Amino acid sequence: MKKLLHVIASPRGEKSRTLQVASAFLERFRELHPEWMIDEINLFTDPLPVLAARQVDGKYMLLGGKELYGELRETWEDIEQHIARFKGADAYLISTPMWNFNVPYVLKQYIDILVQPRYLFQYVHGHTEGLLKGRPMVVISSRGGDYTTPETQSFDHVESYLRVVFGFVGITAIEFIKVEPLDGVSAEAVRHTVEAARGAAREAAARIPA
Ligand SMILES: Cc1cc2nc3c(=O)[nH]c(=O)nc-3n(C[C@H](O)[C@H](O)[C@H](O)COP(=O)(O)O)c2cc1C
Repeated sequence: MKKLLHVIASPRGEKSRTLQVASAFLERFRELHPEWMIDEINLFTDPLPVLAARQVDGKYMLLGGKELYGELRETWEDIEQHIARFKGADAYLISTPMWNFNVPYVLKQYIDILVQPRYLFQYVHGHTEGLLKGRPMVVISSRGGDYTTPETQSFDHVESYLRVVFGFVGITAIEFIKVEPLDGVSAEAVRHTVEAARGAAREAAARIPA
Protein backbone atom coordinates (compact mmCIF):
# COMPACT_ATOMS: atom_id res chain seq x y z
CA MET A 1 0.00 0.00 0.00
CA LYS A 2 1.34 3.45 -0.91
CA LYS A 3 1.83 5.94 1.88
CA LEU A 4 1.73 9.72 2.23
CA LEU A 5 3.50 11.00 5.34
CA HIS A 6 2.09 14.24 6.75
CA VAL A 7 4.60 16.02 8.99
CA ILE A 8 2.96 18.63 11.23
CA ALA A 9 5.18 21.40 12.59
CA SER A 10 2.56 23.81 13.97
CA PRO A 11 1.49 23.41 17.62
CA ARG A 12 -1.82 25.24 17.05
CA GLY A 13 -4.14 22.40 16.05
CA GLU A 14 -7.46 23.72 14.75
CA LYS A 15 -6.28 27.33 15.06
CA SER A 16 -3.39 26.66 12.68
CA ARG A 17 -3.74 28.40 9.33
CA THR A 18 -1.09 26.05 7.91
CA LEU A 19 -3.23 23.06 8.86
CA GLN A 20 -6.39 24.66 7.44
CA VAL A 21 -4.62 24.70 4.09
CA ALA A 22 -3.23 21.20 4.65
CA SER A 23 -6.75 19.86 5.25
CA ALA A 24 -7.79 21.00 1.76
CA PHE A 25 -4.77 19.15 0.33
CA LEU A 26 -5.64 16.01 2.28
CA GLU A 27 -9.35 16.07 1.37
CA ARG A 28 -8.49 16.22 -2.33
CA PHE A 29 -5.72 13.69 -1.97
CA ARG A 30 -8.07 11.18 -0.29
CA GLU A 31 -10.64 11.67 -3.07
CA LEU A 32 -8.02 11.02 -5.74
CA HIS A 33 -6.08 8.25 -3.97
CA PRO A 34 -8.46 6.39 -1.64
CA GLU A 35 -6.10 3.40 -1.68
CA TRP A 36 -3.18 5.34 -0.14
CA MET A 37 -2.53 5.25 3.58
CA ILE A 38 -2.05 8.65 5.21
CA ASP A 39 0.37 8.58 8.11
CA GLU A 40 0.63 11.65 10.31
CA ILE A 41 3.38 12.71 12.67
CA ASN A 42 2.79 15.71 14.93
CA LEU A 43 6.21 16.99 15.93
CA PHE A 44 4.81 18.95 18.89
CA THR A 45 2.95 16.04 20.48
CA ASP A 46 4.78 12.89 19.34
CA PRO A 47 7.99 12.54 21.36
CA LEU A 48 11.18 12.94 19.33
CA PRO A 49 14.53 11.43 20.31
CA VAL A 50 17.28 13.84 21.21
CA LEU A 51 20.52 13.97 19.31
CA ALA A 52 22.99 14.40 22.17
CA ALA A 53 26.51 13.05 22.81
CA ARG A 54 25.70 9.32 22.62
CA GLN A 55 23.43 9.56 19.61
CA VAL A 56 25.93 11.79 17.81
CA ASP A 57 28.66 9.20 18.53
CA GLY A 58 26.53 6.82 16.44
CA LYS A 59 26.41 9.26 13.57
CA TYR A 60 30.21 9.51 13.55
CA MET A 61 30.53 5.71 13.66
CA LEU A 62 28.38 5.52 10.54
CA LEU A 63 30.26 8.38 8.89
CA GLY A 64 33.45 6.41 9.56
CA GLY A 65 32.01 3.38 7.77
CA LYS A 66 31.53 1.35 10.99
CA GLU A 67 28.48 -0.57 12.19
CA LEU A 68 26.54 0.39 15.31
CA TYR A 69 26.69 -2.27 18.00
CA GLY A 70 25.79 -2.93 21.64
CA GLU A 71 24.49 0.00 23.68
CA LEU A 72 24.96 2.41 20.82
CA ARG A 73 22.66 0.34 18.65
CA GLU A 74 20.03 0.39 21.45
CA THR A 75 20.41 4.17 21.81
CA TRP A 76 19.71 4.43 18.11
CA GLU A 77 16.51 2.36 18.11
CA ASP A 78 14.20 5.40 18.30
CA ILE A 79 16.17 7.17 15.60
CA GLU A 80 16.00 4.12 13.34
CA GLN A 81 12.23 3.87 13.86
CA HIS A 82 11.76 7.48 12.77
CA ILE A 83 14.00 6.93 9.77
CA ALA A 84 12.10 3.77 8.78
CA ARG A 85 8.75 5.57 9.07
CA PHE A 86 10.03 8.43 6.90
CA LYS A 87 11.65 6.13 4.34
CA GLY A 88 8.49 4.03 4.18
CA ALA A 89 6.57 6.91 2.60
CA ASP A 90 6.11 7.38 -1.16
CA ALA A 91 5.23 11.09 -0.90
CA TYR A 92 5.42 13.81 1.75
CA LEU A 93 3.33 16.71 2.97
CA ILE A 94 5.10 19.09 5.34
CA SER A 95 2.94 21.63 7.19
CA THR A 96 5.19 24.28 8.70
CA PRO A 97 4.75 27.87 9.74
CA MET A 98 7.69 30.26 9.50
CA TRP A 99 9.29 30.82 12.90
CA ASN A 100 12.02 33.43 13.04
CA PHE A 101 12.55 33.23 9.30
CA ASN A 102 13.05 29.46 9.32
CA VAL A 103 11.17 26.33 10.38
CA PRO A 104 10.08 25.70 14.02
CA TYR A 105 12.80 24.00 16.07
CA VAL A 106 10.95 20.67 16.20
CA LEU A 107 11.14 20.34 12.42
CA LYS A 108 14.87 21.07 12.55
CA GLN A 109 15.21 18.42 15.28
CA TYR A 110 13.24 15.91 13.19
CA ILE A 111 15.45 16.58 10.18
CA ASP A 112 18.61 16.19 12.29
CA ILE A 113 17.26 12.81 13.42
CA LEU A 114 16.44 11.64 9.91
CA VAL A 115 19.41 12.74 7.84
CA GLN A 116 21.90 9.98 8.59
CA PRO A 117 24.62 8.37 6.48
CA ARG A 118 23.68 5.01 4.93
CA TYR A 119 20.01 5.59 5.76
CA LEU A 120 19.14 8.75 3.81
CA PHE A 121 22.41 9.43 1.97
CA GLN A 122 25.61 7.62 1.15
CA TYR A 123 29.11 8.37 -0.04
CA VAL A 124 30.01 7.31 -3.56
CA HIS A 125 33.62 8.00 -4.61
CA GLY A 126 33.90 10.83 -2.09
CA HIS A 127 30.61 12.44 -3.10
CA THR A 128 27.30 12.24 -1.30
CA GLU A 129 24.27 10.71 -2.94
CA GLY A 130 20.68 11.00 -1.69
CA LEU A 131 18.81 7.73 -1.21
CA LEU A 132 15.22 9.02 -1.49
CA LYS A 133 15.26 10.01 -5.14
CA GLY A 134 12.02 10.54 -7.04
CA ARG A 135 9.64 11.06 -4.13
CA PRO A 136 7.40 14.12 -4.37
CA MET A 137 6.99 16.58 -1.50
CA VAL A 138 4.57 19.42 -0.91
CA VAL A 139 5.40 22.04 1.72
CA ILE A 140 2.63 24.25 3.08
CA SER A 141 4.14 27.19 4.92
CA SER A 142 2.19 30.05 6.45
CA ARG A 143 3.80 33.19 7.72
CA GLY A 144 2.86 36.46 9.37
CA GLY A 145 4.80 38.66 6.95
CA ASP A 146 5.11 38.88 3.19
CA TYR A 147 8.28 37.42 1.67
CA THR A 148 7.37 37.90 -1.97
CA THR A 149 9.04 41.27 -2.56
CA PRO A 150 12.64 41.65 -3.81
CA GLU A 151 13.55 43.27 -0.43
CA THR A 152 12.14 40.44 1.71
CA GLN A 153 12.61 37.29 -0.42
CA SER A 154 16.05 36.54 1.04
CA PHE A 155 14.59 36.44 4.59
CA ASP A 156 12.63 33.30 3.71
CA HIS A 157 14.92 30.56 4.95
CA VAL A 158 12.06 28.07 5.09
CA GLU A 159 12.13 27.40 1.37
CA SER A 160 15.90 27.70 0.90
CA TYR A 161 16.64 25.41 3.86
CA LEU A 162 14.07 22.72 3.05
CA ARG A 163 15.10 22.64 -0.63
CA VAL A 164 18.75 22.17 0.31
CA VAL A 165 18.32 19.58 3.05
CA PHE A 166 15.69 17.45 1.32
CA GLY A 167 17.53 17.86 -2.00
CA PHE A 168 20.59 16.45 -0.21
CA VAL A 169 18.70 13.22 0.48
CA GLY A 170 17.34 13.06 -3.08
CA ILE A 171 13.95 14.73 -2.69
CA THR A 172 14.12 17.42 -5.36
CA ALA A 173 10.51 17.58 -6.61
CA ILE A 174 9.27 19.95 -3.91
CA GLU A 175 6.28 22.22 -4.39
CA PHE A 176 5.82 25.12 -1.97
CA ILE A 177 2.47 26.64 -1.07
CA LYS A 178 3.13 29.82 0.87
CA VAL A 179 0.30 31.37 2.82
CA GLU A 180 1.24 35.00 3.43
CA PRO A 181 0.88 37.59 4.89
CA LEU A 182 -1.36 36.44 7.72
CA ASP A 183 -0.51 38.70 10.69
CA GLY A 184 -1.16 42.43 10.95
CA VAL A 185 -3.82 42.27 8.23
CA SER A 186 -7.64 42.22 8.41
CA ALA A 187 -9.60 39.07 9.20
CA GLU A 188 -11.09 39.31 5.75
CA ALA A 189 -7.64 39.42 4.13
CA VAL A 190 -6.62 36.34 6.15
CA ARG A 191 -9.75 34.48 5.04
CA HIS A 192 -9.07 35.40 1.43
CA THR A 193 -5.38 34.36 1.56
CA VAL A 194 -6.15 31.06 3.29
CA GLU A 195 -8.95 30.28 0.83
CA ALA A 196 -6.68 30.97 -2.18
CA ALA A 197 -4.01 28.71 -0.65
CA ARG A 198 -6.59 25.97 -0.07
CA GLY A 199 -7.34 26.10 -3.81
CA ALA A 200 -3.61 25.85 -4.61
CA ALA A 201 -3.32 22.94 -2.17
CA ARG A 202 -6.12 21.01 -3.90
CA GLU A 203 -4.33 21.51 -7.23
CA ALA A 204 -1.02 20.38 -5.73
CA ALA A 205 -2.71 17.21 -4.41
CA ALA A 206 -3.81 16.41 -7.96
CA ARG A 207 -0.20 16.63 -9.17
CA ILE A 208 1.06 13.84 -6.90
CA PRO A 209 1.47 10.82 -9.20
CA ALA A 210 -0.65 7.77 -8.31
C1 LIG B 1 7.60 31.67 17.63
C2 LIG B 1 7.04 32.34 16.38
C3 LIG B 1 7.91 32.94 15.50
C4 LIG B 1 7.42 33.54 14.33
N1 LIG B 1 8.31 34.08 13.44
C5 LIG B 1 7.84 34.63 12.29
C6 LIG B 1 8.75 35.16 11.32
O1 LIG B 1 9.96 35.13 11.44
N2 LIG B 1 8.23 35.71 10.20
C7 LIG B 1 6.89 35.77 9.98
O2 LIG B 1 6.48 36.27 8.94
N3 LIG B 1 6.01 35.27 10.88
C8 LIG B 1 6.45 34.70 12.02
N4 LIG B 1 5.56 34.17 12.92
C9 LIG B 1 4.11 34.17 12.59
C10 LIG B 1 3.65 32.84 12.01
O3 LIG B 1 4.51 32.40 10.96
C11 LIG B 1 2.24 32.96 11.44
O4 LIG B 1 1.34 33.47 12.39
C12 LIG B 1 1.77 31.61 10.91
O5 LIG B 1 0.57 31.78 10.20
C13 LIG B 1 1.52 30.61 12.05
O6 LIG B 1 1.12 29.39 11.48
P1 LIG B 1 0.02 28.47 12.17
O7 LIG B 1 -1.24 29.28 12.24
O8 LIG B 1 -0.10 27.32 11.24
O9 LIG B 1 0.56 28.07 13.50
C14 LIG B 1 6.02 33.57 14.08
C15 LIG B 1 5.14 32.97 15.02
C16 LIG B 1 5.64 32.36 16.16
C17 LIG B 1 4.68 31.71 17.13
